[in-house]
Amino acid sequence: MADYVGAVDQGTTSTRFMIFDHGGNEVARHQLEHQQILPQAGWVEHNPTEIWERTRAVIQTALRTAGLGAGDLAALGVTNQRETAVVWDRRTGHPYYNAIVWQDTRTDRIASALEREGKGDVIRRKAGLPPATYFSAGKIQWILENVDGVREAAERGDAVFGNTDTWLLWNLTGGVDGGVHVTDPTNASRTMLMDLETLGWDDELLSFFGIPRRMLPEIRPSSNPDFYGVTRASGPLAGEVPLAGDLGDQQAATVGQVCFEPGTAKNTYGTGNFLLLNTGTELVRSRNGLLTTVCYQFGANKPVYALEGSIAVTGSAVQWLRDQLGIISGAAQSEALARQVEDNGGVYFVPAFSGLFAPYWRSDARGAIVGLSRYNTNAHLARATLESICYQTKDVVGAMEQDSGVVLDVLRVDGGVTANELCMQLQADILGVPVSRPVVAETTALGAAYAAGLAVGFWKSTDDLKRNWHEDRRWEPQWNDEQRERGYAGWRKAVTRTLDWVD
Ligand code: G3P
Repeated sequence: MADYVGAVDQGTTSTRFMIFDHGGNEVARHQLEHQQILPQAGWVEHNPTEIWERTRAVIQTALRTAGLGAGDLAALGVTNQRETAVVWDRRTGHPYYNAIVWQDTRTDRIASALEREGKGDVIRRKAGLPPATYFSAGKIQWILENVDGVREAAERGDAVFGNTDTWLLWNLTGGVDGGVHVTDPTNASRTMLMDLETLGWDDELLSFFGIPRRMLPEIRPSSNPDFYGVTRASGPLAGEVPLAGDLGDQQAATVGQVCFEPGTAKNTYGTGNFLLLNTGTELVRSRNGLLTTVCYQFGANKPVYALEGSIAVTGSAVQWLRDQLGIISGAAQSEALARQVEDNGGVYFVPAFSGLFAPYWRSDARGAIVGLSRYNTNAHLARATLESICYQTKDVVGAMEQDSGVVLDVLRVDGGVTANELCMQLQADILGVPVSRPVVAETTALGAAYAAGLAVGFWKSTDDLKRNWHEDRRWEPQWNDEQRERGYAGWRKAVTRTLDWVD
């Protein structure tokens, strides 16, 4: 058998391809950013064709740099930014419209109408999600209603929908020339169209958004021994490799962090933060503003569920300091700047750029910086930004403890922001719980590789995978209880200042 497994990680800001060996060690990677298209306030789009081109390029470059070819890969996994909606013409392969990204809030009227019309409870019960702009269904509805000819094409079966996993799987397996139209239950569980219990598309949910069923991909297991398909020799791998793993990126990170036991959790720090708690085969319904979601489905096994706290803006708040305010030149400098001060100097920053997600779900919220006095500097703002990442995490950890009764004794972390030592120390201080980072911090790509490798027998069991997990660094809490309580009370007060901002 070949010695490696590959994974495409199609994220919000970039696409990467990684290759792993049997020990879960990184062998090669290449990564390329794509354009963030911001046509008006609250709108965020990506060009699906650009994403496919980037995907081709990262695969080719990583393989070439490592001196490997398709024959060295036992299987390929795909993982992706979730919820982002692509609608394309299956006859030509052309998208009808740009991908509408998960952060986009243009569908706020669609979301609030659902609640007003009494459909919110049905959605919560069946899909495990609150009506919000975040999920795919409203985005598909918007395209059907606003782009000429799409509704007719959808009814004819020519216009099809997919998240970016589906878009890439379709292209990798041949596109117009026989590409497969598939997804997995983790991605499907974020559309607002899938019943969490049956793992099938639900006609009542489809009717809420006027979406023809034939637009939707087939739902197959996240780790799929039957394969979704094989890559085409004419594609970027220049050979046939089984496509055998597909997971939304946050669920993939949960697998990469080997959170296979109920009660285990991970927190990924990317553009946003996403904390997932494995609840086993039990479907736990949140009463505290979390999402119920599919964690993974391996082969013919029962699906495993998770509770999720999704936070829209964390790492992207640091990017905002760089790109919009220009007070830092790169993410690493946020740490150096924040270290110039001993505390936040009374400043709190609530980066509610896309409204507030978990546990608040307030699309009427907008960002606020509060507590300013003449004494404050850029350094306080940088520090408040890092703290906002940690306080938002504390909000969702609190909700998770209330929903599940599970009290975390350690928080497993991964993602780009975990390179920021000060931020991780603040996270331990603000939570009062140790924070632990694994050696392989690219857990998202690793999780997709694991799902694909399990399907083809490259790894025999989840126990194999657990042996690959090693701690790299641990941060212990240093604040006392009084500091922690005072800091959190300030944060909660700051959050109230962001609400009711948009009518
Ligand atoms: O739900 C959105 C999430 O999947 C995006 O993750 O890492 O691409 O920002 P990321």
